[in-house]
Amino acid sequence: MSAPIVAKGLEGVVVGNTALSRVEGQIGRLTFRGYDIHDLARHITFEEAAHLFWKGELPTRAQYDDLKMQMAHARMIPNHVMQIARGLPKNSEPMDALRTLVSALGAGNPLKQPDLSAVMMLTAQTPILLAAFDRYRRGLEFIPPRGDLDHAANYLYMLSGTEPTAAQTRALNVYLVLLSDHGLNASTFAARVIASTWSDLYSCITGAVGALKGPLHGGAPSRALEMIEAIGKKENAETWMRAALAKKERLMGFGHRMYKAEDPRAEILRDLARGVCAPQLFELAQSVEQTGLQILHESKPAERIYTNVEFYSAVILHAVGLAKDMFTPTFAASRMAGWTAHILEQVADNRLIRPDAEYVGPAPRAVKAIDQR
Ligand code: ACO
Repeated sequence: MSAPIVAKGLEGVVVGNTALSRVEGQIGRLTFRGYDIHDLARHITFEEAAHLFWKGELPTRAQYDDLKMQMAHARMIPNHVMQIARGLPKNSEPMDALRTLVSALGAGNPLKQPDLSAVMMLTAQTPILLAAFDRYRRGLEFIPPRGDLDHAANYLYMLSGTEPTAAQTRALNVYLVLLSDHGLNASTFAARVIASTWSDLYSCITGAVGALKGPLHGGAPSRALEMIEAIGKKENAETWMRAALAKKERLMGFGHRMYKAEDPRAEILRDLARGVCAPQLFELAQSVEQTGLQILHESKPAERIYTNVEFYSAVILHAVGLAKDMFTPTFAASRMAGWTAHILEQVADNRLIRPDAEYVGPAPRAVKAIDQR
Protein backbone atom coordinates (compact mmCIF):
# COMPACT_ATOMS: atom_id res chain seq x y z
CA MET A 1 0.00 0.00 0.00
CA SER A 2 1.45 3.43 -0.94
CA ALA A 3 2.08 5.92 1.87
CA PRO A 4 -0.71 8.50 2.31
CA ILE A 5 0.04 12.08 1.31
CA VAL A 6 0.30 14.17 4.46
CA ALA A 7 -0.99 17.71 3.87
CA LYS A 8 0.56 19.54 6.82
CA GLY A 9 -1.57 22.57 7.67
CA LEU A 10 -4.16 21.19 5.20
CA GLU A 11 -2.56 23.46 2.60
CA GLY A 12 -4.23 23.02 -0.77
CA VAL A 13 -6.72 20.47 0.57
CA VAL A 14 -10.34 21.07 -0.46
CA VAL A 15 -12.63 19.82 2.32
CA GLY A 16 -16.03 20.99 1.10
CA ASN A 17 -18.07 23.53 -0.84
CA THR A 18 -19.03 27.06 0.09
CA ALA A 19 -21.17 29.66 -1.67
CA LEU A 20 -20.11 32.44 0.71
CA SER A 21 -16.72 33.85 -0.27
CA ARG A 22 -14.15 33.03 -2.91
CA VAL A 23 -10.48 33.71 -2.31
CA GLU A 24 -8.42 33.74 -5.51
CA GLY A 25 -5.01 34.11 -3.96
CA GLN A 26 -2.95 33.89 -7.13
CA ILE A 27 -4.61 36.95 -8.66
CA GLY A 28 -5.45 38.76 -5.42
CA ARG A 29 -9.22 38.69 -5.82
CA LEU A 30 -11.86 38.25 -3.11
CA THR A 31 -15.58 38.00 -3.80
CA PHE A 32 -18.54 37.60 -1.47
CA ARG A 33 -21.34 35.63 -3.15
CA GLY A 34 -20.06 36.84 -6.52
CA TYR A 35 -19.58 40.52 -5.62
CA ASP A 36 -16.05 41.92 -5.76
CA ILE A 37 -15.05 43.38 -2.40
CA HIS A 38 -13.93 46.64 -4.04
CA ASP A 39 -17.51 47.10 -5.18
CA LEU A 40 -18.97 46.06 -1.84
CA ALA A 41 -16.63 48.33 0.14
CA ARG A 42 -17.85 51.33 -1.85
CA HIS A 43 -21.54 50.61 -1.41
CA ILE A 44 -22.57 48.59 1.62
CA THR A 45 -22.64 48.59 5.41
CA PHE A 46 -21.91 45.69 7.75
CA GLU A 47 -25.62 44.86 8.11
CA GLU A 48 -25.93 44.54 4.32
CA ALA A 49 -22.92 42.20 4.24
CA ALA A 50 -24.47 40.08 6.99
CA HIS A 51 -27.75 39.91 5.04
CA LEU A 52 -25.82 38.87 1.92
CA PHE A 53 -24.14 36.02 3.79
CA TRP A 54 -27.15 34.84 5.79
CA LYS A 55 -29.84 35.18 3.14
CA GLY A 56 -27.92 34.92 -0.13
CA GLU A 57 -28.66 38.38 -1.56
CA LEU A 58 -28.07 42.02 -0.72
CA PRO A 59 -31.13 43.43 1.04
CA THR A 60 -33.72 45.72 -0.50
CA ARG A 61 -34.26 48.97 1.40
CA ALA A 62 -37.20 47.42 3.29
CA GLN A 63 -35.22 44.27 4.16
CA TYR A 64 -32.29 46.43 5.27
CA ASP A 65 -34.44 48.57 7.56
CA ASP A 66 -36.00 45.43 8.97
CA LEU A 67 -32.64 43.77 9.66
CA LYS A 68 -31.27 46.92 11.30
CA MET A 69 -34.34 47.09 13.53
CA GLN A 70 -34.10 43.41 14.46
CA MET A 71 -30.40 43.75 15.24
CA ALA A 72 -31.00 46.85 17.34
CA HIS A 73 -33.66 44.95 19.33
CA ALA A 74 -31.32 41.98 19.76
CA ARG A 75 -28.69 44.02 21.57
CA MET A 76 -29.96 43.11 25.05
CA ILE A 77 -27.47 41.11 27.10
CA PRO A 78 -28.75 38.75 29.84
CA ASN A 79 -27.94 39.83 33.40
CA HIS A 80 -25.76 36.82 34.20
CA VAL A 81 -23.51 37.66 31.23
CA MET A 82 -23.20 41.31 32.28
CA GLN A 83 -22.25 40.12 35.77
CA ILE A 84 -19.53 37.92 34.34
CA ALA A 85 -18.27 40.84 32.19
CA ARG A 86 -18.10 42.99 35.32
CA GLY A 87 -16.39 40.27 37.34
CA LEU A 88 -13.60 39.38 34.93
CA PRO A 89 -10.11 40.47 36.01
CA LYS A 90 -9.51 43.97 34.62
CA ASN A 91 -6.27 42.83 33.05
CA SER A 92 -8.01 40.09 30.99
CA GLU A 93 -7.22 40.24 27.31
CA PRO A 94 -10.40 41.37 25.52
CA MET A 95 -10.24 38.24 23.32
CA ASP A 96 -10.29 36.11 26.49
CA ALA A 97 -13.24 38.18 27.69
CA LEU A 98 -15.06 37.73 24.39
CA ARG A 99 -14.45 33.97 24.40
CA THR A 100 -15.81 33.73 27.96
CA LEU A 101 -18.81 35.98 27.34
CA VAL A 102 -19.88 34.22 24.13
CA SER A 103 -19.68 30.96 26.02
CA ALA A 104 -21.74 32.48 28.87
CA LEU A 105 -24.43 33.59 26.39
CA GLY A 106 -24.90 29.93 25.53
CA ALA A 107 -25.34 28.84 29.17
CA GLY A 108 -28.99 28.39 30.07
CA ASN A 109 -30.03 29.59 26.60
CA PRO A 110 -32.82 27.41 25.21
CA LEU A 111 -32.39 28.86 21.69
CA LYS A 112 -28.82 27.91 21.03
CA GLN A 113 -29.10 25.76 17.95
CA PRO A 114 -27.83 27.64 14.89
CA ASP A 115 -30.62 29.26 12.90
CA LEU A 116 -31.14 32.67 11.31
CA SER A 117 -32.60 34.26 14.39
CA ALA A 118 -29.86 32.95 16.72
CA VAL A 119 -27.00 34.03 14.43
CA MET A 120 -28.49 37.50 13.95
CA MET A 121 -28.84 37.90 17.70
CA LEU A 122 -25.29 36.80 18.50
CA THR A 123 -23.86 39.07 15.78
CA ALA A 124 -25.84 42.01 17.19
CA GLN A 125 -24.71 41.22 20.75
CA THR A 126 -20.98 40.87 20.06
CA PRO A 127 -20.07 44.59 20.02
CA ILE A 128 -22.15 45.09 23.16
CA LEU A 129 -20.18 42.39 24.99
CA LEU A 130 -16.94 44.04 23.89
CA ALA A 131 -17.98 47.56 24.80
CA ALA A 132 -19.32 46.41 28.18
CA PHE A 133 -16.09 44.63 29.08
CA ASP A 134 -13.92 47.47 27.81
CA ARG A 135 -15.77 50.05 29.90
CA TYR A 136 -15.85 47.90 33.05
CA ARG A 137 -12.12 47.26 32.87
CA ARG A 138 -11.55 51.02 32.60
CA GLY A 139 -13.70 51.55 35.69
CA LEU A 140 -16.47 53.20 33.61
CA GLU A 141 -20.21 52.65 33.55
CA PHE A 142 -21.84 50.60 30.79
CA ILE A 143 -23.39 52.77 28.09
CA PRO A 144 -26.67 51.27 26.81
CA PRO A 145 -26.87 50.75 23.03
CA ARG A 146 -28.72 53.33 20.93
CA GLY A 147 -31.42 51.99 18.64
CA ASP A 148 -30.99 54.83 16.14
CA LEU A 149 -27.33 54.03 15.45
CA ASP A 150 -26.20 51.31 13.07
CA HIS A 151 -23.96 48.42 14.11
CA ALA A 152 -20.66 50.26 13.46
CA ALA A 153 -21.69 53.63 14.89
CA ASN A 154 -23.28 52.07 17.96
CA TYR A 155 -20.10 50.12 18.74
CA LEU A 156 -17.94 53.26 18.64
CA TYR A 157 -20.55 55.16 20.65
CA MET A 158 -20.73 52.51 23.36
CA LEU A 159 -16.95 52.39 23.70
CA SER A 160 -16.37 56.13 23.91
CA GLY A 161 -19.69 57.64 24.96
CA THR A 162 -19.47 60.05 22.03
CA GLU A 163 -21.36 59.71 18.78
CA PRO A 164 -18.78 58.99 16.06
CA THR A 165 -18.35 61.21 13.02
CA ALA A 166 -19.70 60.07 9.66
CA ALA A 167 -16.11 59.47 8.49
CA GLN A 168 -15.34 57.25 11.49
CA THR A 169 -18.55 55.29 11.03
CA ARG A 170 -17.85 54.87 7.31
CA ALA A 171 -14.27 53.72 7.97
CA LEU A 172 -15.38 51.14 10.53
CA ASN A 173 -18.17 49.95 8.23
CA VAL A 174 -15.70 49.38 5.38
CA TYR A 175 -13.41 47.50 7.76
CA LEU A 176 -16.29 45.37 9.11
CA VAL A 177 -17.48 44.54 5.59
CA LEU A 178 -14.01 43.64 4.29
CA LEU A 179 -13.14 41.34 7.20
CA SER A 180 -16.53 39.65 7.40
CA ASP A 181 -15.56 36.45 5.60
CA HIS A 182 -12.55 34.84 3.99
CA GLY A 183 -13.02 31.27 2.82
CA LEU A 184 -11.90 28.46 5.07
CA ASN A 185 -9.49 30.37 7.29
CA ALA A 186 -8.48 28.72 10.57
CA SER A 187 -11.21 30.21 12.78
CA THR A 188 -13.98 29.56 10.25
CA PHE A 189 -12.77 26.01 9.82
CA ALA A 190 -12.74 25.61 13.60
CA ALA A 191 -16.35 26.83 13.73
CA ARG A 192 -17.38 24.43 10.96
CA VAL A 193 -15.63 21.48 12.63
CA ILE A 194 -17.59 22.15 15.82
CA ALA A 195 -20.84 22.70 13.90
CA SER A 196 -20.28 19.38 12.11
CA THR A 197 -20.62 17.55 15.45
CA TRP A 198 -24.14 19.09 15.84
CA SER A 199 -22.90 21.18 18.72
CA ASP A 200 -24.56 24.51 19.49
CA LEU A 201 -23.92 27.97 18.01
CA TYR A 202 -22.16 29.35 21.10
CA SER A 203 -19.74 26.42 21.24
CA CYS A 204 -18.89 26.93 17.55
CA ILE A 205 -18.20 30.63 18.04
CA THR A 206 -16.28 30.13 21.29
CA GLY A 207 -13.94 27.83 19.35
CA ALA A 208 -13.67 30.29 16.47
CA VAL A 209 -12.76 33.15 18.83
CA GLY A 210 -9.99 30.98 20.31
CA ALA A 211 -8.59 30.26 16.85
CA LEU A 212 -8.74 33.87 15.70
CA LYS A 213 -6.76 35.03 18.71
CA GLY A 214 -3.44 33.56 17.56
CA PRO A 215 -0.90 35.92 15.97
CA LEU A 216 -0.65 33.82 12.82
CA HIS A 217 -4.33 34.55 12.24
CA GLY A 218 -6.20 37.51 13.75
CA GLY A 219 -3.84 38.42 16.55
CA ALA A 220 -1.47 40.38 14.32
CA PRO A 221 -2.92 43.91 13.94
CA SER A 222 -2.02 45.22 17.37
CA ARG A 223 1.45 43.80 16.83
CA ALA A 224 1.62 45.53 13.43
CA LEU A 225 0.86 48.88 15.06
CA GLU A 226 3.35 48.15 17.84
CA MET A 227 5.96 47.50 15.17
CA ILE A 228 5.17 50.78 13.38
CA GLU A 229 5.32 52.66 16.69
CA ALA A 230 8.54 50.94 17.76
CA ILE A 231 10.15 51.89 14.45
CA GLY A 232 9.00 55.47 15.11
CA LYS A 233 10.77 57.15 12.17
CA LYS A 234 11.06 56.00 8.60
CA GLU A 235 14.89 56.17 8.81
CA ASN A 236 14.77 53.41 11.46
CA ALA A 237 12.65 50.98 9.48
CA GLU A 238 15.34 49.04 7.66
CA THR A 239 17.61 48.48 10.67
CA TRP A 240 14.68 47.57 12.91
CA MET A 241 13.17 45.11 10.46
CA ARG A 242 16.46 43.47 9.52
CA ALA A 243 17.23 43.01 13.21
CA ALA A 244 13.81 41.39 13.74
CA LEU A 245 14.35 38.98 10.85
CA ALA A 246 17.85 38.16 12.13
CA LYS A 247 16.19 37.11 15.41
CA LYS A 248 13.86 34.86 13.32
CA GLU A 249 10.89 37.03 14.19
CA ARG A 250 8.05 37.57 11.73
CA LEU A 251 7.16 41.01 10.46
CA MET A 252 3.53 41.45 11.43
CA GLY A 253 1.12 42.45 8.68
CA PHE A 254 2.99 40.69 5.88
CA GLY A 255 2.45 37.33 4.23
CA HIS A 256 -0.61 35.16 3.74
CA ARG A 257 -1.18 31.47 3.18
CA MET A 258 -3.62 32.16 0.32
CA TYR A 259 -2.40 35.35 -1.34
CA LYS A 260 0.54 35.19 -3.68
CA ALA A 261 -0.42 38.65 -4.98
CA GLU A 262 -1.46 41.68 -2.96
CA ASP A 263 -4.33 41.01 -0.56
CA PRO A 264 -7.15 43.09 -2.11
CA ARG A 265 -8.37 44.06 1.37
CA ALA A 266 -4.96 45.59 2.13
CA GLU A 267 -5.23 47.74 -0.98
CA ILE A 268 -8.69 49.07 -0.02
CA LEU A 269 -7.70 49.64 3.60
CA ARG A 270 -4.54 51.50 2.53
CA ASP A 271 -6.67 53.95 0.51
CA LEU A 272 -9.11 54.29 3.38
CA ALA A 273 -6.29 54.89 5.88
CA ARG A 274 -4.96 57.73 3.74
CA GLY A 275 -8.26 59.55 4.36
CA VAL A 276 -8.89 58.80 8.03
CA CYS A 277 -5.60 58.57 9.83
CA ALA A 278 -3.20 61.31 10.92
CA PRO A 279 -0.94 62.14 7.93
CA GLN A 280 2.24 61.54 9.95
CA LEU A 281 1.16 58.04 10.96
CA PHE A 282 0.00 57.21 7.46
CA GLU A 283 3.34 58.28 5.95
CA LEU A 284 5.27 56.29 8.53
CA ALA A 285 3.08 53.22 7.95
CA GLN A 286 3.58 53.46 4.19
CA SER A 287 7.28 53.74 4.55
CA VAL A 288 7.45 50.80 7.00
CA GLU A 289 5.32 48.81 4.54
CA GLN A 290 7.63 49.57 1.61
CA THR A 291 10.75 48.71 3.58
CA GLY A 292 9.19 45.50 4.93
CA LEU A 293 8.17 44.36 1.46
CA GLN A 294 11.59 45.10 0.04
CA ILE A 295 13.41 43.19 2.80
CA LEU A 296 11.01 40.23 2.70
CA HIS A 297 11.26 39.97 -1.09
CA GLU A 298 15.02 40.04 -0.74
CA SER A 299 15.20 37.45 2.06
CA LYS A 300 12.40 35.15 0.82
CA PRO A 301 12.28 35.65 -2.96
CA ALA A 302 10.42 32.38 -3.54
CA GLU A 303 7.63 33.14 -1.06
CA ARG A 304 5.91 36.09 -2.79
CA ILE A 305 5.14 37.90 0.45
CA TYR A 306 2.83 40.95 0.29
CA THR A 307 1.12 43.24 2.77
CA ASN A 308 -1.78 41.42 4.41
CA VAL A 309 -5.09 42.75 5.70
CA GLU A 310 -3.78 43.23 9.23
CA PHE A 311 -1.27 45.94 8.43
CA TYR A 312 -3.68 48.75 7.49
CA SER A 313 -6.44 47.34 9.70
CA ALA A 314 -4.22 48.37 12.59
CA VAL A 315 -3.85 51.90 11.29
CA ILE A 316 -7.57 52.31 10.63
CA LEU A 317 -8.77 50.88 13.92
CA HIS A 318 -6.35 53.18 15.71
CA ALA A 319 -7.67 56.12 13.69
CA VAL A 320 -11.28 55.43 14.72
CA GLY A 321 -10.21 55.49 18.36
CA LEU A 322 -9.88 51.84 19.36
CA ALA A 323 -7.32 50.64 21.90
CA LYS A 324 -4.76 48.22 20.42
CA ASP A 325 -6.05 45.22 22.30
CA MET A 326 -9.54 45.85 20.89
CA PHE A 327 -8.32 45.34 17.30
CA THR A 328 -8.61 41.55 17.23
CA PRO A 329 -11.97 41.52 19.09
CA THR A 330 -13.26 44.02 16.51
CA PHE A 331 -12.05 41.65 13.80
CA ALA A 332 -14.10 38.97 15.59
CA ALA A 333 -17.17 41.25 15.60
CA SER A 334 -16.82 41.52 11.83
CA ARG A 335 -16.03 37.86 11.19
CA MET A 336 -19.12 36.94 13.22
CA ALA A 337 -21.15 37.44 10.01
CA GLY A 338 -18.97 34.98 8.10
CA TRP A 339 -18.55 32.48 10.93
CA THR A 340 -22.29 32.28 11.52
CA ALA A 341 -23.05 31.98 7.78
CA HIS A 342 -20.51 29.15 7.52
CA ILE A 343 -22.13 27.41 10.49
CA LEU A 344 -25.55 27.66 8.80
CA GLU A 345 -24.00 26.36 5.56
CA GLN A 346 -22.37 23.47 7.42
CA VAL A 347 -25.51 22.35 9.23
CA ALA A 348 -27.62 22.64 6.06
CA ASP A 349 -25.52 19.93 4.39
CA ASN A 350 -23.62 18.32 7.21
CA ARG A 351 -21.02 15.59 7.32
CA LEU A 352 -18.94 15.14 10.48
CA ILE A 353 -15.48 16.61 9.80
CA ARG A 354 -13.06 13.96 10.88
CA PRO A 355 -9.73 13.86 9.01
CA ASP A 356 -7.10 11.19 9.48
CA ALA A 357 -3.48 11.40 10.63
CA GLU A 358 -0.48 9.30 9.65
CA TYR A 359 0.66 7.51 12.84
CA VAL A 360 4.41 8.00 13.45
CA GLY A 361 4.65 6.88 17.10
CA PRO A 362 6.20 3.69 18.58
CA ALA A 363 5.38 0.25 17.15
CA PRO A 364 2.95 -1.90 19.18
CA ARG A 365 4.42 -2.79 22.60
CA ALA A 366 3.35 -4.32 25.87
CA VAL A 367 2.54 -2.31 29.01
CA LYS A 368 4.89 -3.04 31.94
CA ALA A 369 3.55 -2.82 35.48
CA ILE A 370 4.49 0.50 37.12
CA ASP A 371 7.37 -0.89 39.23
CA GLN A 372 8.98 -2.58 36.21
CA ARG A 373 9.23 0.53 33.99
N1 ACO B 1 7.85 37.85 8.32
C1 ACO B 1 8.96 37.11 8.18
N2 ACO B 1 9.01 35.95 7.49
C2 ACO B 1 7.88 35.55 6.92
C3 ACO B 1 6.67 36.26 7.02
C4 ACO B 1 6.69 37.46 7.75
N3 ACO B 1 5.59 38.21 7.90
N4 ACO B 1 5.71 35.59 6.34
C5 ACO B 1 6.28 34.50 5.86
N5 ACO B 1 7.58 34.47 6.20
C6 ACO B 1 8.56 33.44 5.88
C7 ACO B 1 8.54 32.34 6.93
O1 ACO B 1 9.48 32.58 7.96
C8 ACO B 1 8.90 31.12 6.13
O2 ACO B 1 10.29 31.07 5.96
P1 ACO B 1 11.10 29.71 6.33
O3 ACO B 1 10.49 28.69 5.42
O4 ACO B 1 12.51 30.06 6.02
O5 ACO B 1 10.80 29.45 7.77
C9 ACO B 1 8.30 31.40 4.77
O6 ACO B 1 8.18 32.82 4.66
C10 ACO B 1 6.94 30.78 4.59
O7 ACO B 1 6.18 31.07 5.74
P2 ACO B 1 4.98 30.14 6.21
O8 ACO B 1 4.63 30.49 7.62
O9 ACO B 1 5.24 28.73 5.87
O10 ACO B 1 3.89 30.62 5.19
P3 ACO B 1 2.37 30.60 5.42
O11 ACO B 1 1.80 30.73 4.09
O12 ACO B 1 1.89 29.49 6.24
O13 ACO B 1 2.27 31.92 6.31
C11 ACO B 1 1.47 33.60 7.69
C12 ACO B 1 1.25 32.79 6.41
C13 ACO B 1 1.37 32.64 8.88
C14 ACO B 1 0.38 34.65 7.80
C15 ACO B 1 2.87 34.27 7.67
O14 ACO B 1 3.02 35.03 6.51
C16 ACO B 1 3.13 35.12 8.91
O15 ACO B 1 3.54 34.59 9.94
N6 ACO B 1 2.89 36.47 8.83
C17 ACO B 1 3.09 37.33 9.97
C18 ACO B 1 1.88 37.29 10.89
C19 ACO B 1 0.66 37.97 10.29
O16 ACO B 1 0.75 39.00 9.66
N7 ACO B 1 -0.50 37.34 10.52
C20 ACO B 1 -1.79 37.81 9.99
C21 ACO B 1 -2.20 36.98 8.82
S1 ACO B 1 -3.60 37.62 7.99
C22 ACO B 1 -4.96 36.91 8.73
O17 ACO B 1 -4.94 35.81 9.18
C23 ACO B 1 -6.20 37.67 8.82
